[in-house]
Amino acid sequence: MTSPAILVAGSANLDFVVRAPRIPTPGETVLGHAFSTYPGGKGANQAVACARAGGVATDMLLALGTDAYAAELEASLHAARVRPLVVRPAGLATGTAFICVSDDAENAITVAPGANAGLAPGHLPALGGYSHLLLQLETPLDTVTAFARTAHTAGLNVTLNGAPAQALPRALLAALDALIVNEGELAAISGIRHDIDTAIAALDVPCVAVTLGARGVRARCGAAWFSQPGFAVEIVDTTAAGDTFCGALVAELARGARWPEALRFACAAAALTCTRPGAQSSIPDRHDVHLFLQSR
Ligand code: RIB
Repeated sequence: MTSPAILVAGSANLDFVVRAPRIPTPGETVLGHAFSTYPGGKGANQAVACARAGGVATDMLLALGTDAYAAELEASLHAARVRPLVVRPAGLATGTAFICVSDDAENAITVAPGANAGLAPGHLPALGGYSHLLLQLETPLDTVTAFARTAHTAGLNVTLNGAPAQALPRALLAALDALIVNEGELAAISGIRHDIDTAIAALDVPCVAVTLGARGVRARCGAAWFSQPGFAVEIVDTTAAGDTFCGALVAELARGARWPEALRFACAAAALTCTRPGAQSSIPDRHDVHLFLQSR
């Protein structure tokens, strides 16, 4: 049997982050008090989370511009030991995200997709050697669907993080082994609100995990149901917590962990992410997660 190896295909953004007393309401200006930039993007964050979870080689297919932001995003992937497979769609700038983080750690994110919108079905590399494909929805839906179908046909385990929220075509759902969503995304995909178990049961996907913020995770895999409580931590910034959960979960499953153990590891990794500022800067490695779990 070949060793597990993960391909993440998706977005990369440079995050422009302002901390402010609160998130502005429409039409309002709020004076913030700190500004930073961080490597981000749901796809790149998840690739970093896979690699930091350790033990499984991780590559990432992403689209960047030819600007200075691109170099910073590539450098962050290299530093995390993710091998970037970069395409550069003509005339498109590197993706950016504009994030306001309030003093009570809420955030609001607006993404300018740029080159992420240029990722096309023909960009998928040869899949030989990969055991798992991890996708999100910050690149065009047609591309995500084509990638999932090709990988499914090739026998890879295909996981989709259904973020940002949108309804999904049947052809995409049929190509998935696992779907990871938050409560809003679950409602957008299933059409069912306020009843998590009914919504999970209604989805014709082998495994579904629903992140519930501080409450933890509810999941179903086949006929087996799991509940993993959240870990209480002092929250600084929740940006990339969901991405950390996705990457850590897929990495653990690829290593051969069972779902309950993988859910516990991924919840702990996501909780640690909330204790640090920024996106990729906040994602813990395997050692950090083990120390945290030992302390609980
Ligand atoms: O999930 C967090 C990410 O969403 C940020 O890093 C930002 O780039 C947006 O893609």
